[in-house]
Amino acid sequence: MFRTHTCGELRLADIGSKVTLAGWVQTVRKFGSITFVDLRDRYGISQLLFGEELNRELDRNPIGREFVVQVSGIVAERTNKNKQIETGDIEIIVEAFKILNGSSTPPFTITDDTDGGDDLRMKFRYLDLRRNAVKKNLELRYAVNRAARNFLHQQGFMDIETPFLIKSTPEGARDFVVPSRMNQGEFYALPQSPQTFKQLLMVSGYDRYYQIVKCFRDEDLRADRQPEFTQIDCEMSFVEQDDILNMFEGMIKYIFNEVKGIKIKEKFERMTWEYAMYHYGNDKPDIRFGMTLQHIEETCRGRGFKVFDEAEKILAIVVPDAGEYTRKQIDELTEWIRRPQVGMTGLVYIRCGNGGAYKSSIDKFFDVESLRRIATACQAADGDIILILAGKQERTIKAMSELRLEMGERLGLRKKNEFRLLWVTDFPLFEYSEEDNRWVARHHPFTAPKPEDIATMVENDPEIKDASQYLMHPYAGIKANAYDMVLNGNEIGGGSIRIYQRDLQEKMFAALGMTREESLQKFGFLLGAFDYGAPPHGGIAFGFDRLCAILGGSEGIRDFIAFPKNNAGWDVMLEAPSAIDQSQLNELGIVVKGY
Ligand code: AMO
Repeated sequence: MFRTHTCGELRLADIGSKVTLAGWVQTVRKFGSITFVDLRDRYGISQLLFGEELNRELDRNPIGREFVVQVSGIVAERTNKNKQIETGDIEIIVEAFKILNGSSTPPFTITDDTDGGDDLRMKFRYLDLRRNAVKKNLELRYAVNRAARNFLHQQGFMDIETPFLIKSTPEGARDFVVPSRMNQGEFYALPQSPQTFKQLLMVSGYDRYYQIVKCFRDEDLRADRQPEFTQIDCEMSFVEQDDILNMFEGMIKYIFNEVKGIKIKEKFERMTWEYAMYHYGNDKPDIRFGMTLQHIEETCRGRGFKVFDEAEKILAIVVPDAGEYTRKQIDELTEWIRRPQVGMTGLVYIRCGNGGAYKSSIDKFFDVESLRRIATACQAADGDIILILAGKQERTIKAMSELRLEMGERLGLRKKNEFRLLWVTDFPLFEYSEEDNRWVARHHPFTAPKPEDIATMVENDPEIKDASQYLMHPYAGIKANAYDMVLNGNEIGGGSIRIYQRDLQEKMFAALGMTREESLQKFGFLLGAFDYGAPPHGGIAFGFDRLCAILGGSEGIRDFIAFPKNNAGWDVMLEAPSAIDQSQLNELGIVVKGY
């Protein structure tokens, strides 16, 4: 037998047993005529003791960090027990060893707090993956995967694979494309999601579908985005919105219980998109803390303070019990909101002292009575600080939403081990793109309007005479039968009830500015399928990487993916993307322009 046990397995009960282990050398510690070696594998670390005789052999055949060795020996009780590791009570008195493979000195130490920078870790990802910290993330990922599959299987969902070489399915990002050798000049697109396929499966009668599936999107990357990422993609027939919300609330609860041992009993909070935008300035609010947005234009205007009088929007948040907050900290915040990413020019504060003593940066314009009115409008109490931003509508809302999150972070209110789940519903169906001068689907073109809004969509012409007045168009008020699941301020899933009638789908394509020919050319297969008895259906897809990252206490998804890309979409280890041979280009009939 190559090994009788793993490196994480042996305990006091095994004392006296003869065992064989194989693994990687973590450390070598020489003490005179004896040597201790920590041997590591996926399961743990065991201490090996090389006595005098074997030590001489070690001198002849030295082993170093990350060598792969096989050792046989007897399990013994340790004198110096190590409570930090599970095998810490025992050691193996080595009787024989064999070096299975040597190793160059690794570019960083394989420890939890590695000295390798990000780029180095990615270049040598196969070494980085040996580290406990990354391994734990992958184990968690596998646990989430298993739990999701178990739950969906129990609920009668069927895992069906869908193709990767497809025709473009617009989901709001750019497609990655793959040239076809057999059809020169033509391209496949990699799916941004299996959206149209899962809908076709509903037409085919597979009324509960799921897939844990790779999706590809050529978009700007952030900590929570990768160009290829994984979805838990699901679709159901003969359902309404509530059926989907209940089913997938169940799935997430099941996953929390299985993976984290956390039992969530309450129903997830639900709020409409409009409510979320008004109170949090954000369609994925972090509800682990309050500090909601206060709209205070009415109270603030007309005191001769130009910034307020000329502002489209004046918003406040109340930072509770902030008496200790120093002037220096407020100045720092002012710098923070002036950064180009936030882009505001100034931050107004009102310090609510005891017994109505106010101190503010706008004392010149606001007497005590007016400051009290603002404090009352914001429901601020003694000891609180009110932070106010004023300016253009959209920018001010966005900036205040970010300031709220920043304050939540600074005050330690966004606790990693607290999980708050939420459904956001009733998104607008359309957004108006001033750039393209047309309506675009906020979610995707297959999302149905709320039943009560269907007539508005069917009866009105999408055309807009004056683009600046788009908010007045009936389409601006149409709500989508769509929902997002939000966890601690992150969108972890999104879906909708779908259009399943050909004429409504055609109307949707027309509303998005597609001619009849274009819609047939792009989506003829789906429209055709709707002619043959398409059932009412709807679904959802979860960002699997995001879900795992948040469960693992991180908002960055990279360390929950075995081989991720960096923020420039670059695989540092493979050095991809890269040029391809001229002969490959010739076969594909591709001429690359001037690079
Ligand atoms: P959507 O585009 O909202 O919906 O995607 C679903 C979920 O996938 C995650 N996600 C990402 N994760 C990592 N990197 C990315 N680049 C990335 N983009 C999205 C998010 C998101 O909530 N077909 C529809 C679903 C449906 O309607 O059923 C879709 O793909 O967590």
